[in-house]
Amino acid sequence: MIEQLEQVRVDALQEISRADSLKLVEELRVKFLGRKGVLTGLLRSVSQASPEERPVLGKAANELKLQLTASLDQKFDDLQAIEKSRTARNDFFDVTLPGRRPRLGHLHVISQVAEEIVAIFAELGFQVATGPEIETEYYNFDALNTPPDHPARDLHDTFFVRPGVVLRTHTSPVQMRVMEKMQPPVAVVAPGRVYRVDADATHSPMFFQIEGLLVDEGVGFADLKGTLMHFIHRLFGKDVQMRFRPHFFPFTEPSAELDILWTSDKGGGGSQTKWMEILGCGMVHPEVFKHAGYDPERYTGFAFGLGVDRIAMVRHRISSITYLYESDMRFLEQF
Ligand code: DAH
Repeated sequence: MIEQLEQVRVDALQEISRADSLKLVEELRVKFLGRKGVLTGLLRSVSQASPEERPVLGKAANELKLQLTASLDQKFDDLQAIEKSRTARNDFFDVTLPGRRPRLGHLHVISQVAEEIVAIFAELGFQVATGPEIETEYYNFDALNTPPDHPARDLHDTFFVRPGVVLRTHTSPVQMRVMEKMQPPVAVVAPGRVYRVDADATHSPMFFQIEGLLVDEGVGFADLKGTLMHFIHRLFGKDVQMRFRPHFFPFTEPSAELDILWTSDKGGGGSQTKWMEILGCGMVHPEVFKHAGYDPERYTGFAFGLGVDRIAMVRHRISSITYLYESDMRFLEQF
């Protein structure tokens, strides 16, 4: 019996020392000291020993019980301490780590291109003008030589706010608002939003235009050409080919559209070179000057209107105008 107790001591101490989790320690406590445990069984059989042996065995068994209890408690405390320091290390907050920078925004690609265009004209002495986006039919159409029965009105699919009031379909009404306030010489560019009932890959119901107007004595078509050619060279590079194509606008006479020869990427790695319309322009119609109170015998001028979205798409090879207005970070971050 003494040998049995000794064997239990050796086995138990070894197993306790190897235990590496609190759960295992508790399992060992049950295995050796539990109600059906190894040592408990031995203690019970002490009663069957001879009267002389009984006190010796009883004492030895009780001592072993105390020793194992102490050993298990110690192991339990040790493991608990290790676990605590491990969680403490995980929760540790290192105040010396560099912080995470908040994401900074930047100008939208439309604003970037608009600023670039305005800057080119500002260098030439043009001032920046603005006008309301909710505009009267008078400024949007009539004053620009586009009376109610004029077929050109049909080309603008107009959003009406109420009779006589529209969301401006172009930035041209700013021309009239500027001329009402200023006397020649006038040289302005007017960037802003415009609206039309239209939506597909190349049309958005809201888009951006920049209007230009220059009025003085003796302004001719050569001034228009020279100014716009300079502009195109600055924006698209010296080598770009361009052409002025006769066109019609009610508020200019003669009128033209300016195209550039542009190579764009096609799906599948190919490319495509074609004439791209960039802006509309012309010599200010005498009727427009009359509405502004300018003497058409004395003053002449040129005007132009360009689509910022269109130019941004050409410049950055953007295939659909919808990308410009979807606020998708994956797209916007590229600019
Ligand atoms: N307003 C015209 C449009 O939206 C563009 C335009 C053409 C403006 C000729 C002009 C101009 O000032 O002279 O389609």
